[in-house]
Amino acid sequence: MTQIPNSFKQIRWGLIAACCLALGVAAGAPARAASALPDGPGKQLTVQICGKCHSPEQAASLHQTRRAWEATISKMVGMGAQGTDDQLNEILDYLANNFPPPPPAPVNINTATPVELESSLVLLRTEAEAVIQYREKHGNFKSLDDLRKVPGLDFQKIEKEKSRIVF
Ligand code: HEC
Repeated sequence: MTQIPNSFKQIRWGLIAACCLALGVAAGAPARAASALPDGPGKQLTVQICGKCHSPEQAASLHQTRRAWEATISKMVGMGAQGTDDQLNEILDYLANNFPPPPPAPVNINTATPVELESSLVLLRTEAEAVIQYREKHGNFKSLDDLRKVPGLDFQKIEKEKSRIVF
């Protein structure tokens, strides 16, 4: 009994696949793939030049610094990607602007360990210890201003990273 619906399904999927194929051919493969990338200057070149060997989406599958994007593009040129310096620079701008590294993680000032405080807020060991001691003595910090009261802590460092600090 299950044979019939199954084969029906197959026919339907076959039809859908044929439709997609026809649409794909009509629209042109690069145009279809391009729609998944954000619009902006350089997109067209990225699709055209970086979509030759793999999908343009794979070309944009990383999130990294401009310098790292530069290295990726050089690597691809080494593999045979072709473009003028101007074209490759435009691609670099596009990728660096649209696929930057992820923003640094937030720091919970009330649960962070001394090592986390040191590494993520670039505090000295003595400053990290002062934060912990103050926290243990007075309870959780409730606002940025509370951190001004920590003896020996350079508040400018806190101010600089305030968008990442959570309570
Ligand atoms: C001549 C063929 C070719 C072209 C053109 C090409 N690539 Fe690649 N790309 C490859 C191959 C082959 C791999 C897989 C490499 C591997 O596994 O080490 C790859 C992998 C990648 C990866 C996956 C991560 C990595 O470093 O392996 C990224 C990102 C990438 N390419 C970006 C780009 C960008 C950006 C462009 C346009 C400037 C581009 N590619 C153009 C051949 C190409």
